[in-house]
Amino acid sequence: MDGQDEENDVLLLERTASSFFRYKEFALEEFWRPRILRWESLSEHQKQMIPWYNSYLEDVHDAIETNSIFYMNLLERSVKLWGLNSDPNLWAQPSGTDMRKTISMLNQIAREWSTHCEEERDQFLLLLTEFLEEKFPSDRNTIKILIPGAGLGRLAVEMVRLGFNTEANEVSYHMLMNSQFIMDGGLQKEQIALFPFVHSFSHHINRAEQLRQVNIPDMNIVEEVGGNGLLSMVAGSFPDLYGPNVNIKQSESYSNSAYIREVRAANRGSKHVVITNFFIDTCSNILDYLETITHVLKVDGYWINFGPFMYHFEQDHQTEMTADFDAYTGELSNILDTPLRGIELSHEDILEVATTHFPFKLLKQQTNISSSYGTNKLDISMLGYQCSFWVLQKT
Ligand SMILES: C[S@@+](CC[C@H](N)C(=O)[O-])C[C@H]1O[C@@H](n2cnc3c(N)ncnc32)[C@H](O)[C@@H]1O
Repeated sequence: MDGQDEENDVLLLERTASSFFRYKEFALEEFWRPRILRWESLSEHQKQMIPWYNSYLEDVHDAIETNSIFYMNLLERSVKLWGLNSDPNLWAQPSGTDMRKTISMLNQIAREWSTHCEEERDQFLLLLTEFLEEKFPSDRNTIKILIPGAGLGRLAVEMVRLGFNTEANEVSYHMLMNSQFIMDGGLQKEQIALFPFVHSFSHHINRAEQLRQVNIPDMNIVEEVGGNGLLSMVAGSFPDLYGPNVNIKQSESYSNSAYIREVRAANRGSKHVVITNFFIDTCSNILDYLETITHVLKVDGYWINFGPFMYHFEQDHQTEMTADFDAYTGELSNILDTPLRGIELSHEDILEVATTHFPFKLLKQQTNISSSYGTNKLDISMLGYQCSFWVLQKT
């Protein structure tokens, strides 16, 4: 990392920490206060029709307070660990996007670390476990699995529980700081109470569902996987760390310093299995992910995918700088301001490209598997995704 990258990294980390610090203030302002004002604006006549509304808003307030205690505990543990200044008022200010991520993190925590979302997780876990147990009946600690976009690490922990040597890769500080706290914080089973659904005021069959408490984590993680040395978490962008040094353009997720080029060279052909779970649609160029998966897999290795095609940048008007570079000198050419949107390939497109332009053969595929994502399972809007599952083998 050069000096400029390091500075940006510290800023990002501070903004993330700051968004946790400001969660309560933001959540009250955004979700609670407008409703109190609305309630107070009602005529006495209408107030008497829903006399419970005021005390319901007190419950909303308390739930936000409980969530904020979680973030404060996380910060207490993280400041030293992440090398942050001990005075939160000196941290860089979070953006609106940082704050919204802090809200949605609570759903992500429920998705990965509560029994409430067990059914949702099992959709993929059962398919995955069946395949891996058949292919690798023994000596699993010698089998190297990589999970890019690993979120809060749940799937990685499941792989370690099966005995595999597992590397989780994640780029977001929101995810990294939360997973660090949840996985290494020595938490007892169900020690922490959270109200992840409190910020959503629509689609409830009753109020109790909005105020549903979930307890995390649903296992004692250190007891389950601590100390066996099979789990590691690597921070950074997937193509950046695991991609080839040729044929990808420099971009925001793919840099070209001498150090990173060495890391990429060392990762070549290093993994037996790459598992992408709700990940491939996070790309701004899916072909970069295909190049990267091909590069990091050993010959005969497997790429196992589960998830939708909800391309994250489809509606994004931002651009990024892309450029060709010399793999040896790092020299740049053909520097372009490039839209993040585009190259949103379908299920069939990806399989066609993977099996004709990349060295993959198709072993299994399934389409239209309905799945929710960190939502309250009693949410009546039935917001969900149609997911694809496939297994490709590198030839
Ligand atoms: C939709 S979430 C899925 C998280 C987890 N796999 C799950 O199923 O719950 C996508 C994840 O990919 C991460 N991500 C996005 N782009 C990435 C990149 N270039 N490198 C590594 N992780 C990335 C995001 O930060 C996010 O945690």
